[in-house]
Amino acid sequence: MKFMQLVLTNDGSHTVYLPELNESYHSMHGAVTESKHIFIKSGLNACKLTSLNIFEMGFGTGLNALLTWLECRKQGMKIYYRTIENNPLGNDVIKRLNYGQVLGLSRGDKSVFRYMHDAPWDEDIEVDKHFVLSKNHGNLYDYNLHGKIDLVYFDAFSPDRQPDIWKYEIFERLFRAMNAGAILTTYCTKGKVRRTLEAAGFKTETLPGAPGKREMMRAMKASSPGSE
Ligand SMILES: C[S@@+](CC[C@H](N)C(=O)[O-])C[C@H]1O[C@@H](n2cnc3c(N)ncnc32)[C@H](O)[C@@H]1O
Repeated sequence: MKFMQLVLTNDGSHTVYLPELNESYHSMHGAVTESKHIFIKSGLNACKLTSLNIFEMGFGTGLNALLTWLECRKQGMKIYYRTIENNPLGNDVIKRLNYGQVLGLSRGDKSVFRYMHDAPWDEDIEVDKHFVLSKNHGNLYDYNLHGKIDLVYFDAFSPDRQPDIWKYEIFERLFRAMNAGAILTTYCTKGKVRRTLEAAGFKTETLPGAPGKREMMRAMKASSPGSE
């Protein structure tokens, strides 16, 4: 496991900082604020489905899974949430994450977050009757993207730090595993990433970014690669 530090972001919520990469898991303008904006408001809430398969690139702190579970309960959706992680957080970091406190969660809901982290890897875990969590311990490069995905949370480290993950081969595999009309949402708006997504078959759009960032990007699988 790589050395990690827990740091506070501007909305009072934690993020993880990796000195080795000189990169944090979230925007320093606010981890919870950013995740809600990019993944919940611009992703989950933009899907018009009541039952959906989500794939998250990078489980990390579990913040996106927690926010998705809270939203799915609020909206009465059914969600199968699959995520991949090659460098799980240590228990010393997990137990100090302050998302429950920042989000004002009840003791029961805080224990669900803990349950998500304690859940075994590589198994389908029924968190409740609306939400199944499948945490996969491995590398996205080798992961078999089976199933029909409706929504992708593409939450990798930035292309400057992790260029290999923003490549055509990855986006093309995701595209093939996604249903027509499915959405991929990401904080990254780099022109090169946009062109790569489009080459893999996605239609892209620029949306207002989370506080502190001008823009974000959403990509949609309209139909098959190369066609309108
Ligand atoms: C920017 S962080 C976001 C994490 C998470 N979504 C969150 O909100 O805390 C990127 C995550 O992707 C994971 N990761 C990076 N490269 C990976 C790879 N090739 N395969 C699987 N996971 C990877 C990292 O360990 C890290 O947890």
